[in-house]
Amino acid sequence: MRNNSMISIQNVNKTYDNLTALHDVSLDIKQGEFLALVGMSGGGKSTLLRLIAGLEKPTTGNIEIDNSDEKSLMRVMFQEDRLLPWMSVLDNLSFGSKNKNAQNHAKELLDLVELGDYADHFPNQLSGGQKQRVALARALMTNPKILLLDEPLGALDALTRRKMQDLILNICEKQNLTTILVTHDVEEAARMADRIVVMKESTNYYEEDCPKNRNAGQIGIVADRVLGEILEEKPLQIKTA
Ligand SMILES: Nc1ncnc2c1ncn2[C@@H]1O[C@H](COP(=O)(O)OP(=O)(O)OP(=O)(O)O)[C@@H](O)[C@H]1O
Ligand SMILES: [Mg+2]
Repeated sequence: MRNNSMISIQNVNKTYDNLTALHDVSLDIKQGEFLALVGMSGGGKSTLLRLIAGLEKPTTGNIEIDNSDEKSLMRVMFQEDRLLPWMSVLDNLSFGSKNKNAQNHAKELLDLVELGDYADHFPNQLSGGQKQRVALARALMTNPKILLLDEPLGALDALTRRKMQDLILNICEKQNLTTILVTHDVEEAARMADRIVVMKESTNYYEEDCPKNRNAGQIGIVADRVLGEILEEKPLQIKTA
């Protein structure tokens, strides 16, 4: 592995017929890091996530994952919850397994996402935010080391979204997960991430390191700068105190 990274992306290109979705992307993600990927629609964010998850192969270039022999290493969570409508919340987590350990683990995770009382509910009895929390708990069932999140909060209202952001941050920190969050929302990226990567025109990208324990003002400044980069305006020159 390069630089002791958890995920090392080296000169990755991805083409579909004549279309270049990713051009020469190189990126190293450290163990325990929370990285946000933002950028214009069609900029290749989901493509990069699918390549990291091993769902597709790069056309050229290389992606290395530390400990990739561990089956449970990586989980993806998508914008839509992808729950099975005919299974209860508990069964969605344990896939109907009657194994006591699996069921207990599922119950612990439901507690963690504050849905301990909803084990016997069915997905259609849940709100959008609750479904996403079940999806998050399900993603955590195999004790992943890497969590890949492709706009998991996109469909939620602002308040629920904010609560989910805190919940995810909390869990990622507690479980020391390496996390990549794809989001359209620069504020969300600025609130949550240690580092923001802006994917631009599938050719170059811009990086922003976020201060630790940032306050609302700093979040706003980072979000403005990142948005400026996405829109390819000149970054705002705001001085922090
Ligand atoms: N399976 C595919 N076949 C052909 N073209 C594809 C395929 N998947 C993605 N693309 C193309 O690759 C480019 C990048 O798509 P991708 O879904 O990665 O963008 P994105 O940054 O996730 O966009 P969004 O923010 O809208 O989700 C797009 O031009 C898209 O049309
Ligand atoms: Mg996408």
